[in-house]
Amino acid sequence: MKATAQAPANIAFIKYWGRRDNVLRLPANNSLSVNLSSLVTTTTVEFLSEAGEDEVTLDGQAASPKAAARIQAFLDVVRQRAEFSGRAVVSSENSFPHGVGLASSASGFAALTLAATQALGLPLTEKELSQLARLGSGSACRSIPDGFVEWQTAASNEESYAISLYPPDYWEIVDVIAIVDQTEKSLSSSEGHEAAPHSPFYQARLEKFLPEQYAKILRALDERDFSAFGTVMEEEAINFHAIIMTAQPSVLYWNGATMNILHQVRAWRRAGLEAYFTIDAGPNVHVFCEKKNQPELVRQLSAVPGVEDLMVATPAPGARLITE
Ligand code: DP6
Repeated sequence: MKATAQAPANIAFIKYWGRRDNVLRLPANNSLSVNLSSLVTTTTVEFLSEAGEDEVTLDGQAASPKAAARIQAFLDVVRQRAEFSGRAVVSSENSFPHGVGLASSASGFAALTLAATQALGLPLTEKELSQLARLGSGSACRSIPDGFVEWQTAASNEESYAISLYPPDYWEIVDVIAIVDQTEKSLSSSEGHEAAPHSPFYQARLEKFLPEQYAKILRALDERDFSAFGTVMEEEAINFHAIIMTAQPSVLYWNGATMNILHQVRAWRRAGLEAYFTIDAGPNVHVFCEKKNQPELVRQLSAVPGVEDLMVATPAPGARLITE
């Protein structure tokens, strides 16, 4: 009745932004991501036969009422599938600050899915785990499979899940994450998904921009063409933020340090250091380079005004059980 699992966060090159179904978390578009080695959540779930409220501890502190309610609602789905009615004790540790746009909901719900189903003896396939994790947090479905991952949109709960396109060792690229703000983000990604379709540019994103970019980035991945890959990733990050800046409500996730980094990355490229950025729903910046350029990129990024900390991540496996 007890299990521990570990799952990585992931960063999307083509992002999930807007949903066709808010309850089932069916995304409006396909997305592509890679799992991140140093951003990991480790979660232990124990089910007790007694009824009552679940007990949830996140990074050593009792979860906020909002986070606890979201986790309890997700565990209700797992309990229903296993025909079990007891309460759960959940303890979860992140290797990185949560709520700052570093995808703690992705690694968190992926680890929770694997630990909870294992604790209740539910034997699920990778596809079923990914579908289930999606109900907790959409991007969590991409933290179940290994390495470079694709999540397909679909009209039904059964058909929307993530698969591995390439294993972690397929390509030696590095994500240097510049932390410029450690506080909670101003608008949660769940709220962002609801706001995004109100941008006047949203339909153009779905109908024209994304289909073209998707085809280009799949080709770049297939050919391990870093320049083509980085160009599409960066264009997508700008498009994603343009959508939320022009949505209702309008959100500016970037701060001054974010902007400093974006200008610097482009200046470094002009000077011969090949690096490209992407940014999720927060101010922190993920800057990608090839492995050979990692020391120089770290050196340069750490000198940018406003950068508080750096984290380095490489492509990683998906969710795993931890045996004691
Ligand atoms: C900006 O998966 O956090 O990181 O389904 O509401 O939990 P919910 O949203 P979430 O959204 C992630 C959005 C993003 C882009 C991405 O990871 O694809």
